Amino acid sequence: RLQVYLAEKAGFCAGVKRAFALAEKAASKPGKWYTLGSLVHNKEVVEYFAQKGIKTVENIDQIEENAGLIIRSHGVAPEVIEQARARGIIIEDATCPLVKRVHEMVALLKREGYVIVIFGDRNHPEVEGILGYCGYDAQVIRSAEEALSIDNAPRIGLVSQTTKDEEDFYRVASVLVKKAQELRIFNTICPATRERQEEALSLSRKVDLMLVIGDETSSNTNTLYEECKNTGVKTYKIQKAEQIEEEWLKGVNAVGITAGASTPDWIIKEVVDKMAGYNSGEKYNEGVEESFVR
Ligand code: F3S
Repeated sequence: RLQVYLAEKAGFCAGVKRAFALAEKAASKPGKWYTLGSLVHNKEVVEYFAQKGIKTVENIDQIEENAGLIIRSHGVAPEVIEQARARGIIIEDATCPLVKRVHEMVALLKREGYVIVIFGDRNHPEVEGILGYCGYDAQVIRSAEEALSIDNAPRIGLVSQTTKDEEDFYRVASVLVKKAQELRIFNTICPATRERQEEALSLSRKVDLMLVIGDETSSNTNTLYEECKNTGVKTYKIQKAEQIEEEWLKGVNAVGITAGASTPDWIIKEVVDKMAGYNSGEKYNEGVEESFVR
């Protein structure tokens, strides 16, 4: 019998839940509402809100005066909010408090004259926002290897994009510690991300197939996928249930399922249902049913 395990921490984190709720509320208000870039890195969620009249634009100039703008959980650079306010745009700020903390940390490092290093992806919107809080005066690195190229400096300050891999962050820190007389580290990796990663790792060790659900553009989904794959277990990243191929299940006795922070429960449920369909006696972790209740 195929055993199906769903990670309890799969799917929306507190920050995304908050953004989702805020967008629902905004959609019910009069007036036009926009997000700058997709509300979360998930196509289905974006479509869901598009149907409710929330449009996604890439630039603030595409928003008319007096319309509303929802700032997504990734946050934005401070000048974006200033420009929007200057144009009479109403702001609903869903920046995750944990991302706001990174903003404060880099602003502090900047004020105190540290060479700032951000462990993250240069093109990720969260990192673009963080850069705005230190006047774009920071070096963004994606790996410990890249940390090797940072110049020696008396004082270096290190923060992380919230959804990066924690072990990698420690590796970056151990490279930088040799490059400065003083290295000030703020571990800004979000606990939800860390817990999700830890749970996915322990699940990977007890199954023979891992399915990681999330969009290509979701940084934390990609991290989860890499981590599960690195345990040596057969791992597939999927965006929805239709992508599952039956032949993946050949010789498989136990399947683990996890999902990134931007993956809604309705997609997770479809995947679990599909796996259950292959099975005559499925077994879920305790608490799974409740996790589908929004
Ligand atoms: Fe916030 Fe962590 Fe989610 S930083 S948006 S709670 S992944």
